[in-house]
Amino acid sequence: MFVCMCYGVTDKSIRAAVQGNGVGNMRELREHMELGSQCGKCIQMAQQIIDQTIIDDSMFKNVG
Ligand code: FES
Repeated sequence: MFVCMCYGVTDKSIRAAVQGNGVGNMRELREHMELGSQCGKCIQMAQQIIDQTIIDDSMFKNVG
């Protein structure tokens, strides 16, 4: 699924940045990839994916 149409960034690549690079917010995400600076429509969605990925990961760690 494309989160940022302007730069062609997918939810998958955002998740990979959170899991692989410890990205925790939009500012950090934008150090790893270009998104959000064209129309800005994706910013809220990208932030939600970051938050959700962190929540999912911590739940997974608690189980393991
Ligand atoms: S959709 Fe991300 S900047 Fe436009």
